[in-house]
Amino acid sequence: MANPTFIICGVTGDLTRRKLIPAFYHLLQKNKFEKCAFIGISRSKVSPAEIFESSHQFIHDIDADVWDKLSNSFFCISHDFTDHDGYTSVGEKITAIEKKLGLPGNRLFYLATLPELFNDVTHGLASSGIAKRSCKGDGCKEPWHRLVYEKPFGHNLKSARALNKKIAEAFDESQIFRIDHYLGKEHVGNILMLRFANRFLQPLWNKDSVRSVKISMNEAIGIEGRGEFYDKTGALKDIVQNHLLQLLTLITMDAPKKLRGECIRDEKVKILKNIKVEDSTLGQYDGYADEPGVEKGSTTETFAAIKLGVNTPQWKGVPFMLGTGKHLEAKETVINIEFKKPDCLFTEDCPIPSNTLRIFIEPNEGFSMAINAQAPGTQYDITPAEMRFVHNSAAGINTPESYETLLNEVVGGDQSIFVRFDEVEEAWKIIDNVSKGHPKLYKKGTTGPSIDF
Ligand code: BG6
Repeated sequence: MANPTFIICGVTGDLTRRKLIPAFYHLLQKNKFEKCAFIGISRSKVSPAEIFESSHQFIHDIDADVWDKLSNSFFCISHDFTDHDGYTSVGEKITAIEKKLGLPGNRLFYLATLPELFNDVTHGLASSGIAKRSCKGDGCKEPWHRLVYEKPFGHNLKSARALNKKIAEAFDESQIFRIDHYLGKEHVGNILMLRFANRFLQPLWNKDSVRSVKISMNEAIGIEGRGEFYDKTGALKDIVQNHLLQLLTLITMDAPKKLRGECIRDEKVKILKNIKVEDSTLGQYDGYADEPGVEKGSTTETFAAIKLGVNTPQWKGVPFMLGTGKHLEAKETVINIEFKKPDCLFTEDCPIPSNTLRIFIEPNEGFSMAINAQAPGTQYDITPAEMRFVHNSAAGINTPESYETLLNEVVGGDQSIFVRFDEVEEAWKIIDNVSKGHPKLYKKGTTGPSIDF
């Protein structure tokens, strides 16, 4: 067993209490490690008890033994991430904890700090030797050191490139795990399974049979007190650059040689290099500019719909629509694949609906297929019959939350569901080119503004 040391840089952030602690809890509950330690680093002094108290509400039916095991192996260190001399003493503290618990020194560094600090943290960890470039070759017996970067990874192509360069100076790409938490979701993983484990879909998966693809990630929530961050980011950078483009690559990539590792990432990059944005509509919900932390008169978009083309032999000419927004009618992430209509053999005007495959990512995972059938009691009327798989009602399924899956994969050293440096850069190239007009206002709780295409 790897018996890792999890080191969370920026432990006081919301991500720790909402996502990381519940994920650690579930990993311990499933006995993934014989022993391990969790070390939270933050500028402000904080105790493990304070962090745990605020995280309790995010775990259901707590098992006291697991909770105790987690809290007894949790330590906090206070350190200013911009103080480069201070990293040596942090390193000594980490080593002392590992020694006390008899851990081998396999270290997973989770960078959950403000993104502006990623450069400082990367530099500090490398120059102090807390995290080392991995050795290669058969004789290499050193414990592993892996770095996990939370998104946003840069704020445009230039900044993402600079950060990738900084990381590459100190570490090998095989040690770097860039998170897009959508890739840890069970039904995002299922996209590749649906595509490549079903022979009947394969001949249809191209421009000859697909009429359009729509990927929507609608949110009912707003910016949830993150005004300062969100106002610098907006929907294009917060959601489209990462989650939606990742979903698009999984839908359109060619079959990889193997359904693992670099083969998948190579195919995804090929798609990203061939994407052309054709149109866009941006929106902002009524009242956004009055939110705390948001600049008065801000033109940051809280809604984005873009139309794009994938310029590959398989997809050329098929319209792809990506859309996302805050404060919309309901939360739903869904992919709609609409097939072309069959030839008309029945009535003159032939009102045959298209077959549609829908992949539900959130909140109810599953998929459905609308297949045309004879309307009951008629001879020539057509009605779509929906065949649906509902993941939660399949017996015995206990779907892990995405962060649990992601952390488990980092410990296992598999990068398949993490974003490679070139994927990030290609995705920024696409987003940097979306023209930013004035966003259209829309009312909260609606479907957003009217779309121009
Ligand atoms: C995050 C965005 O990446 O994803 C948030 O920063 C958004 O703005 C969140 O609310 C949505 O994630 P999920 O898993 O709830 O769909």
